Amino acid sequence: MNAKIVLIPGDGIGPEVVSEAVRVLDVIASRGGHTFSYESILMGGCSIDAHGTALTDEALAIARASDAVLLGAVGGPKWDDPKAKVRPEQGILALRKGLGVFANLRPAKVHPALIDASPIKPDRLAGVDVLVLRELTGGLYFGYKGREVVDGRTKVVDALEYWDDEIRRILELAFKLARGRRKKVTSVDKANILDSSRMWRQIATEIGQAQPDIALEHMLVDTAAMRLVTSPAHFDVLVTENMFGDILTDEASVLAGSMGMLPSASLGDGGPGLYEPIHGSAPDIAGKGIANPVGTILSAALLLRYSLGLEAEAAALEAAVDAAISAGARTKDLGGTLSTTQMTERVLTALG
Ligand code: NAD
Ligand code: IPM
Ligand code: MN
Repeated sequence: MNAKIVLIPGDGIGPEVVSEAVRVLDVIASRGGHTFSYESILMGGCSIDAHGTALTDEALAIARASDAVLLGAVGGPKWDDPKAKVRPEQGILALRKGLGVFANLRPAKVHPALIDASPIKPDRLAGVDVLVLRELTGGLYFGYKGREVVDGRTKVVDALEYWDDEIRRILELAFKLARGRRKKVTSVDKANILDSSRMWRQIATEIGQAQPDIALEHMLVDTAAMRLVTSPAHFDVLVTENMFGDILTDEASVLAGSMGMLPSASLGDGGPGLYEPIHGSAPDIAGKGIANPVGTILSAALLLRYSLGLEAEAAALEAAVDAAISAGARTKDLGGTLSTTQMTERVLTALG
């Protein structure tokens, strides 16, 4: 098949990990007789430096016209001034909104050989396989924002806004995904405090009543944060609001052993999917060649599966990552000594 993939290397370790995923994609393309063509666009700090904005309309148009988008990460101390009008992270939000990718799938599994890499007790980690489904284009990130000076004090607002249909479509997807897994949905909210959560819970209940073969439970987000580390094997599909999902998936990465391990796929109704590791630009290790490329390589596997329909290739790549880790391949974040490129080579060796 022919596919046009837009690359967004971004800032910090972003370019270091995206180039590794491209090496892997190239091997998969040539083996399978596929042609992947790539076009890189600027986003984040590098785009601010070049164009004064985190994502230009032209760059977004290029992304929208592709089959899939592979993103590294954006941001860094250079652009971190709290008073700055433009921020790298605005690029990600504009991209997610512009692609309409409302569903962010963040699978977190524990590889048996990495149990020691996690600070969580080994007996808690056995059998952990959770799919966090994070709503991505609504909620706190996209609600009304404002500042107002009242009697010399400054009031600031970030509103948590949702339309009922936005809640319904992400919850419907959670049930659909659970059907292909262990048939259990944990809907995470803060219904004891937030009205948005009460509507979320009501819609989840309605969907659950229509699909009684899927077990639905509601869990408050603070409890979920606790249970994710005390009994992570409890979860199958965990579906939640945008910011709750952001926070809970950094926490879930601790189960897998490192922030560098977790991939993600962001999907909408048709149109290109967006694939990115859950980690950021890691300024503390940028330029050292030690970033773990696995989260991005596994994101490329999700790209093969969800945007290109290449399930066999996706599964083979995931199996290769598993095999490399079983064989002891470890970057520094996992307690090893391999460089970014050496880690990729171990995955390529396992790919055979
Ligand atoms: P971070 O995820 O960049 O880093 C957190 C910690 O995890 C650091 O110690 C880092 O070294 C480590 N880490 C992350 N990825 C790693 C990898 N692949 N291999 C080895 N270690 C890894 O979070 P942060 O430091 O809080 O944020 C840095 C910048 O990244 C900020 O500007 C933030 O806004 C941005 N950010 C961007 C994205 C994105 O582009 N999708 C996501 C999260 C954060
Ligand atoms: C992530 C990041 C982003 C988010 C930021 C950088 C906008 O933390 O992808 O998890 O909060 O969604
Ligand atoms: Mn995050």
